[in-house]
Amino acid sequence: MHKIFCYVNCLQNKLVVECGDGTPDPILGVTEAFKRDSNPNKMNLGVGAYRDDEGKPYVLPTVRKAEAMIAAGNMDHEYLGITGLPDFTKASAKLAFGDDSEVISGGRNITVQGISGTGSLRIGGNFLARFFPGSKSVYLPTPSWGNHTPIFRDSGLEVKGYRYYDKNTCGFDAAGAMEDISKIPEKSIIILHACAHNPTGVDPKPEQWKELGKIIKDRQLFPFFDMAYQGFASGDPAKDAWALRHFISEGHTVALAQSYAKNMGLYGQRVGAFSLVCSDADEAKRCESQLKIIIRPMYSNPPMNGARIANLIMNTPELNAEWKKELELMSGRIISMRTQLVDNLRKEGSNRDWSHITDQIGMFCFTGLKPDQVERMTKDFSVYLTKDGRISVAGISSKNNAYLAHAIHEVTK
Ligand SMILES: Cc1ncc(COP(=O)(O)O)c(C=O)c1O
Repeated sequence: MHKIFCYVNCLQNKLVVECGDGTPDPILGVTEAFKRDSNPNKMNLGVGAYRDDEGKPYVLPTVRKAEAMIAAGNMDHEYLGITGLPDFTKASAKLAFGDDSEVISGGRNITVQGISGTGSLRIGGNFLARFFPGSKSVYLPTPSWGNHTPIFRDSGLEVKGYRYYDKNTCGFDAAGAMEDISKIPEKSIIILHACAHNPTGVDPKPEQWKELGKIIKDRQLFPFFDMAYQGFASGDPAKDAWALRHFISEGHTVALAQSYAKNMGLYGQRVGAFSLVCSDADEAKRCESQLKIIIRPMYSNPPMNGARIANLIMNTPELNAEWKKELELMSGRIISMRTQLVDNLRKEGSNRDWSHITDQIGMFCFTGLKPDQVERMTKDFSVYLTKDGRISVAGISSKNNAYLAHAIHEVTK
C-alpha cells in the first residue's frame, strides 16, 4: 500500500496528515473496466441505473414536462429551509404512507428532504446514533446494499447482520432471518429494504413480512425502512409500500429513507426524504427540531431543482397519472427482460433451474454465478457484473439478452 502524505500549513506549524490509499468502490471499478474494453458486444450490468431498450439512459417524459414548467415559471434560486421544500416533503410522506394515512392526519410524522436515498439514510443514522435510547447497534440483512455499512458506521453506529439470502435456493432465507432476528438484543435498530432488495432482488412475501413484524415488535427493535425502489419493483407505488404500511398499521414507530433516483430517474439530482413516524405529534415536533440541528452543519439546506421536479410530478394530477404509467413501463420492461433471459437460457440448452431470475424483483438479479464464473463472463464475453454475481436487469435490452444468456450458459454448463 502506498502512503500518501498531505501537508497542511497551519500558520508557522506544519501539520502532517498521514493516510494510506483508500479501497476503490467495487461498483464504480466495474464501470471503469467496462469503459476500457473495446469489444462491441460488451455489457455493463454492474451499475444500478435504468436503461431503455436501446441501452440508453432514460429521462422520464414527466421529468421533461416538469422541467419545462420550472423554466416557464421564472423561479428564483433562494435557499430552501433546512428541512427542504414543504410541498415536496408533504407529497413524499403521502407517497410512502398513503393519501389517507392516519400518521399524516395525526401529525405523527416528520419528513425532511434528504440528499437522495444515501443522504436520507445518513440523516437517519446520525439521528439514531445521537438519540436512539437503546443499543447503538444496527442490524443489516446479509447481504445488503454495499453502502449501508459505511453509511451507518460513519454515523457512529455499530453494524451487525442477520441472515437474509439463501444461496441454495437463491431466495429468501425466512427461517434463518427469523431465527437471527429473534436473537437480536432488545432495543436495537434493524434495517429493512421496503421492496426490491438490493443486491439480491429477493423480498419476503406478505405473510413473511407479518411474521417478521411480530418478531421485531416482540424484541422491541426499531425498524428503519430503506425504500429506494418504490413503484420501480411492481410498477405500483402503493403495492411496493405494503410492508412499510403494514408495520405502521401494527403500531410500529419507524424511520424511513426514500429516494427518487430510480422511480423518477433523477439519479444525479439527489432527491430524497427522511421520515420519522413518532408516537404522537409532540414527539414529531421535538424530532423535527433535532433533525434541523443535525442537518444544518452537514449541508445547511438541500438542493432545490430535483425537489421541484419531483414535487411537480407528485402534485400535478396529470403528471402524476402519467408518472404511474411510466413506472409500469420501466418495471414492466425489467420483468420482461427476466422472462426473456430464462427463455434464452432454455434455447441455449441450459437445464438448470433459473426460476429465481423471474421470482426476484426490481432492478437487480442475484444470478447465483460463482466468482470464477463471473470472472469468465468478463474475460471471455466482456459482460461486466459485480463479483457477487449480481446483474442489473435494467441494463439488459431485447438486443443483447440472447448474448447474455449465451455467456451465462457457457460459464455454467
Ligand atoms: C438499497 C438502496 N438504498 C439506497 C440507495 C441510494 O441511492 P441514491 O442515494 O442514489 O438515492 C440505493 C441505490 O442504489 C439502494 O440500492
